[in-house]
Amino acid sequence: MEARAQFVDVSGKAPEAPEVWPSIVITREEIEAEVERLANAPKPANGVRSTNLVHPLAKAPGLGLAPGIDARIEVLNPGEHALVRRANSNAVGTCIRGTGRARIGGATIDFTAHDVWNVPSMHPVIYENDGDDIQARLIFSNQPMLEKQLVHYAEQATDEDSSERWFAAAEAAIPDGPRAKDSAPVVPIGGGAFLMPYEHLVDPDTVTNAALHWPWEVVEPRLKAVRAIGDGYTGRRLYILYNPATERRNGTTHSFFASIASYPGNVVDRPHRHSSAAINYWFGGSGRSTVDGQKLTWKAGDLMLSAPGWSVHNHASGPDGFYSLTIQDHPLMIAQESLIWQETMKDPIKNLGTQIGFQTNIADLVNS
Ligand SMILES: [Fe+2]
Repeated sequence: MEARAQFVDVSGKAPEAPEVWPSIVITREEIEAEVERLANAPKPANGVRSTNLVHPLAKAPGLGLAPGIDARIEVLNPGEHALVRRANSNAVGTCIRGTGRARIGGATIDFTAHDVWNVPSMHPVIYENDGDDIQARLIFSNQPMLEKQLVHYAEQATDEDSSERWFAAAEAAIPDGPRAKDSAPVVPIGGGAFLMPYEHLVDPDTVTNAALHWPWEVVEPRLKAVRAIGDGYTGRRLYILYNPATERRNGTTHSFFASIASYPGNVVDRPHRHSSAAINYWFGGSGRSTVDGQKLTWKAGDLMLSAPGWSVHNHASGPDGFYSLTIQDHPLMIAQESLIWQETMKDPIKNLGTQIGFQTNIADLVNS
């Protein structure tokens, strides 16, 4: 039958509030049990032992823990490696057990617990476990969003030879030289508007985006500075794991920032909300959160959909404080001019990246 568009009359319709998924905690015990189950299962042909942690309200295509973000457990037994893969999604990885090596494009990253790295899109990726323990990683990606748009593209090598060919191709030098767009000037037509020839459409300016590594042994001592900011600080005690390829979008990948927070005990953050969705991996201490009125408690090793987009939420540290890794689709939202943010429920809603954002009291604390 011929496909025909529906004509949906939306005349006079008021804007709708977005649907919000409830927050959800996946406990350390559930994650550890799944790591053991994957490790004990027969080895798949491609070497990938992996489980997608799917929110109960997620609908295919695009199953994830947030509507646009997935969280996968990936496991390798000692001596194992996966065959090379690549995809047009991008990802952040962290190690939650054991040690290992990632080869991502031209980069080789030796990782251990709490290390973080980014996986740029279309870079060949291979993980190896050269340690004595089971290796477990959490990998967060924008695959669900691309699957919803029906444009997720992924390839898988079928043997060791093709793995090596992929890396050789990735490492081959890109030829320099004149580009067609050098002969196709952009035409100003007044009032700030331009006409841009096709040669620019198919050859946009590029930004180098390599896999970067944030080793925990380097990051951890630096977190003392944010943990020690004085009482009454109105910001959040964290560093973004910043990848300069994301420029003003302040990300770790072009979709996400990964940030690591370090909180002393008994600090309660103010309720706020943002259109970016956040997933937290709590890897030290304990605490509690209120998300859209729902109260949740968590401890080291738990994973949580901590801020479904536009949910009012706040987090509070337990008596010993906490460490958390947060994955949040902030750069994606800035790129779309969609990052609306309310820093306290008394503040106006701001569109971050298009207007001056919120100001903490950091100057008072560092100058006093
Ligand atoms: Fe938040």
